[in-house]
Amino acid sequence: MNILLLGSGGREHALAWKLAQSPSLAKLYSAPGNPGMSEGAELVSLDAGDHAAVATFCDEHDIGLVVVGPEAPLVDGLADSLRAGGIAVFGPSKAAAQLEGSKSFTKALCDRAGIPTAGYVHTHSLADAISALDEFTAPYVLKADGLAAGKGVVIAETRAEAEAALADMFGGQFGEAGAEVVIEEFLTGEEASFFALTDGAAILPFGTAQDHKRVGEGDVGPNTGGMGAYSPAPVLTKELQARAMREIIEPTVSTMAAEGMPYSGVLYAGLMLTADGPKLIEYNCRFGDPECQVLMMRLEDDLAELMLACAEGRLGEGREARFDQHTALTVVMAAKGYPGAPEKGGAINLPSSEDGGAKVFHAGTSLDGDQLVASGGRVLNVTALGANVTGAKAAAYAAVDAIDFPSGFCRRDIGWREVARERG
Ligand code: AMP
Ligand code: GLY
Repeated sequence: MNILLLGSGGREHALAWKLAQSPSLAKLYSAPGNPGMSEGAELVSLDAGDHAAVATFCDEHDIGLVVVGPEAPLVDGLADSLRAGGIAVFGPSKAAAQLEGSKSFTKALCDRAGIPTAGYVHTHSLADAISALDEFTAPYVLKADGLAAGKGVVIAETRAEAEAALADMFGGQFGEAGAEVVIEEFLTGEEASFFALTDGAAILPFGTAQDHKRVGEGDVGPNTGGMGAYSPAPVLTKELQARAMREIIEPTVSTMAAEGMPYSGVLYAGLMLTADGPKLIEYNCRFGDPECQVLMMRLEDDLAELMLACAEGRLGEGREARFDQHTALTVVMAAKGYPGAPEKGGAINLPSSEDGGAKVFHAGTSLDGDQLVASGGRVLNVTALGANVTGAKAAAYAAVDAIDFPSGFCRRDIGWREVARERG
């Protein structure tokens, strides 16, 4: 089978790397891809926003499966357009992708399905929102309803800060995404990510991870897309995973199906492990970035076959995904200035071989002639396996230290919580 993979970041490089190992793959195309992905895929130029052009490419290249990496094309209905033309797609329909595309949609679904999540109010105007603050206490959690490239959540420490943030949101800071705002109860606990594959009916638990969202060591400073991650996340014990499946994932999948919006693809649940058990913080309708990199490093199954089974509604009950028992850890090397204005064009020299089993996924790179250069905020994802987080961390940083990227930086403490626990 030929596969078309859409996207260009570290998540997509990890998917491409794993798909290239799938016995069921004939040829992999990646649009637009990145220089790292050219090792296993043919890079093609296609605009995911032009549904007809993607469909034509699929017909002309005998594509048996389209894998959509990022959320925007899914929220935009690309999967629907392709399926209407008989093309199999890994990723949810536009209606089902509302689980990521609309915070209020997901909160209302949680209400209907009895899914544990933070209490909330859905507001439609600044005046509404300001009076709704009376129902909460600081810190205030304010979320632009729509997609805001991961920047639409504000945690305000005081009422004055909350009112100012609400004024910005309703004032158009996030464009249309902020025309409605969800205000939430602040949850306390440790955050962890839980992944599941589903074909709309059957569900396959697909691993756990934890990431580091803040740019600075010790988890301080501005939010980023994620500066590193590891998998599995030992805090999500077998018992907590079973509870998350029973109380959160299963009712989501069954309610979406019952309401005529069956969800297929990967469901990525951001969970808060509270004293009352796991609560849903948010859903994403795609793999996490960089969580995908650590999941793929551990996956032992044929990814292409699993994705096609999801797309064709034949995932079947009773499967178990096979993951390496080792821990995978990834360190994000970013361009100086990230997450503000990252320096572009900095030279990167990678060692000629990837020693010690580490894998360097490209996230924001391009070629300037023969020279690999930085072209984004998050540039490389240096990923390694180890017996536990401490071991994987040592292997990943050894590989980081072998990379020459003077205009880059990384956090040196990825995995710190778990390293401290492993130390006892
Ligand atoms: P989201 O984009 O919804 O994942 O929110 C971004 C981050 O804000 C999450 O990863 C949490 O760290 C934090 N957050 C979101 N909602 C809450 C909540 N209700 N209580 C506490 N922290 C939250
Ligand atoms: N690393 C967080 C995300 O992909 O949403």
